[in-house]
Amino acid sequence: TDEILRIPVVVHVVARTDAENISDDQVISQIEVLNKDYRATNADLAAVPDVFSSLVGDAKIEFVLATVDPDGDPTSGITRTSTTQSTFGIDNAIKFADRGGADAWPADRYLNMWVGLLRGGLLGYAQFPGGPADTDGVVITHTAFGTTGTATEPFNLGRTATHEVGHYLNLFHIWGDDGSGCGGTDEVSDTPNQGSENTGKPTFPKVSCNNGPAGDLFMDYMDYVDDDTMVMFTAGQVSRMRTCLETARSSLRV
Ligand code: ARG
Ligand code: ZN
Ligand code: CA
Repeated sequence: TDEILRIPVVVHVVARTDAENISDDQVISQIEVLNKDYRATNADLAAVPDVFSSLVGDAKIEFVLATVDPDGDPTSGITRTSTTQSTFGIDNAIKFADRGGADAWPADRYLNMWVGLLRGGLLGYAQFPGGPADTDGVVITHTAFGTTGTATEPFNLGRTATHEVGHYLNLFHIWGDDGSGCGGTDEVSDTPNQGSENTGKPTFPKVSCNNGPAGDLFMDYMDYVDDDTMVMFTAGQVSRMRTCLETARSSLRV
């Protein structure tokens, strides 16, 4: 279908220091980015080279901070947890109160987003559809969350969440997760075959795997470039995400 799909979001802020206890404004700035990127209304979409402009997709997905908590009580959609943990890793500890984090809200009704200080330069990670409910959602380091407060260049435009929510809605990396090979696939038919991931701010065209003259779609949210360089999903990626919301994650929609 063509309808707008709405997803209720809860943001769990898990903090040891004042800086990590990011403001409501910073959280809201992230939701605003998601609502532009998943409607293809982001201003920097103009950076897409002409040869790729026909590939741009509008996911027609909207994100709303939850207004009702799991008990049926009013909520801001933001929870705040004080922790003694100095950093968190990819081990899901941030998702459990008994490990210094915050427990998930029911994953069939809320997109859980945890924000804390991640270690080792990790910007974020996500759980694909079909996994356990108590770890379902996305995790993002606070300096790469939203566009204000502690958000820090070059990851201060909220694109880590755009990328991680892409995984949560069943998207794979655009280079096919095969190291630098040309045999991997992201299971999307309109994305060019691409060798390895791109980082930083590549110059167009960036050719790999005989994908010239247009080359890699490095300006896609599912590559690894800087926030100001990733600006689009393709129609094929959009279709995969909407299928996920109509099947595995259909209970989320409100
Ligand atoms: N999972 C990736 C990482 O932690 C996220 C990359 C997001 N990229 C970005 N430009 N915000 O490395
Ligand atoms: Zn990723
Ligand atoms: Ca590849």
